[in-house]
Amino acid sequence: MSGPISHYNPGDDDSKPLEKPEATADQKAQMEQAYAQMRRKLRMTRLAEDIGHKIMVLSGKGGVGKSTVATGLALSLARQGKKVGILDIDITGPNIPKMLGIENIDLHVEDNQIHPADGPNNLKVMSMAFLLEDPDKPVIWRGPIKLGAIQQFIGDVAWGKLDALIIDFPPGTSDEPLTVAQSLPNIDGMVIVTTPQDVALLDSRKSINFSKTVKIPVLGVVENMSGYTIRGTAEPNTSVSVIGPKGIPVEAITDDDGDWSLTLNLFKQGGGKSAAEEFGVPFLGSLPFDPGVVRGGDDGVHRIVSEPDGDIAQAFDRVVSNLLNELESEQDAPPEII
Ligand SMILES: Nc1ncnc2c1ncn2[C@@H]1O[C@H](COP(=O)(O)OP(=O)(O)OP(=O)(O)O)[C@@H](O)[C@H]1O
Ligand SMILES: [Mg+2]
Repeated sequence: MSGPISHYNPGDDDSKPLEKPEATADQKAQMEQAYAQMRRKLRMTRLAEDIGHKIMVLSGKGGVGKSTVATGLALSLARQGKKVGILDIDITGPNIPKMLGIENIDLHVEDNQIHPADGPNNLKVMSMAFLLEDPDKPVIWRGPIKLGAIQQFIGDVAWGKLDALIIDFPPGTSDEPLTVAQSLPNIDGMVIVTTPQDVALLDSRKSINFSKTVKIPVLGVVENMSGYTIRGTAEPNTSVSVIGPKGIPVEAITDDDGDWSLTLNLFKQGGGKSAAEEFGVPFLGSLPFDPGVVRGGDDGVHRIVSEPDGDIAQAFDRVVSNLLNELESEQDAPPEII
C-alpha cells in the first residue's frame, strides 16, 4: 500500500514548537559552581608554574612557634632579594598579619582575584585575617565548607611570579594541610617545627607520617626555642656563677674585656636534631629562645626586621641556607618510582 509520503517539517507543524528546556535555578547554580571550580583548577596549575618553591610549615603540637618560624623563613629569604609570599592558612586563628604589623590593610581585588598585601622586605602576604570582619571572633567552619574555603583561598589569590611561597598552618595534620597537599600541585616539601620537649617531639612523628601519606617530602626539622643566651660583664678572666634553670649554678668565664655569655637550655638540648636523625630527615638548625620574639610578635615587628644582625636573624639565615640546599638536592633527585 502506498500513500502520500509525509515529510516532517517543523515549520508547518502546528503542534507545539520545540522548546529549549530552561535550566532550573539549581542547575544554573551547579553549572556556575562547576565553572568556578574549573577556573580555580586552572589557576592552581598556573600558580604551580609561577611559584618556584612551595613550602609547607607544620608542627604536630600547637604553640611551638610555627607562625614565627614561617614568617622568619619568609623574611630571611626575602632579605636575600628573593620574591617571597607567605600564605596563612590558619582560618580559625590567623595571626601572621599581626606579627607583621599589617592587620588593617584593605586588599585589592581585580578580575575576581585578590591581590596579596605588601609586608616588610617586599613580602607578599595573604591571610584569612584580611577577610574576616572581626579577626578576634573565631570562625567555625566544618568539613566540606572549610575545605572549599581553603581551595578558594589558594586558587583566587594573584601572587604573580614568586621564588618561594611559605604556607603556615594551624597545628596538627588535619583538614588544612591535607586539602592544600591535594589541591596545590608541585609542593616541594614540609618544614616541621618542634621544641626540644619530648611531647613536641613525639607529636612531630605524626607530621612525618603525614608526609608519607601525602607523598610530600620532609625538607627538614627546625628546633625552636632551643636555648636562652644570657650575657654580662665582670672582672676580665674570672669565673662568673649564675643559677641555671634547674636551680644548679652554672659557670661562665669572662674574656679579656670582661664579657661573658651562657646559653641555658630551658627545656632539653639537641632533641630536634636527634628526632631528625631518628626519622631519617634533615635537621635544618635550631633557633634560640628570645624574649624579643614575643615582643616583636605583639608589636608587629618581627625580630628579623628590628634586629637584622641579631642572633635570631643569623640563626634564621643558617636555617634558610640549609633549606635552600635541601631544595636544590630535592630538585636534583631522580623522580621516585611508585
Ligand atoms: N624563638 C622564640 N623565642 C621566644 N618566643 C618565641 C619563639 N618562637 C615563638 N615564640 C613565641 O611563642 C608563642 C607561640 O608562637 P607562634 O604563634 O609562632 O606558634 P604557633 O606554633 O604558630 O602557634 P599555633 O599552634 O597557635 O598556630 C608566641 O608568643 C611567640 O612570640
Ligand atoms: Mg600559628
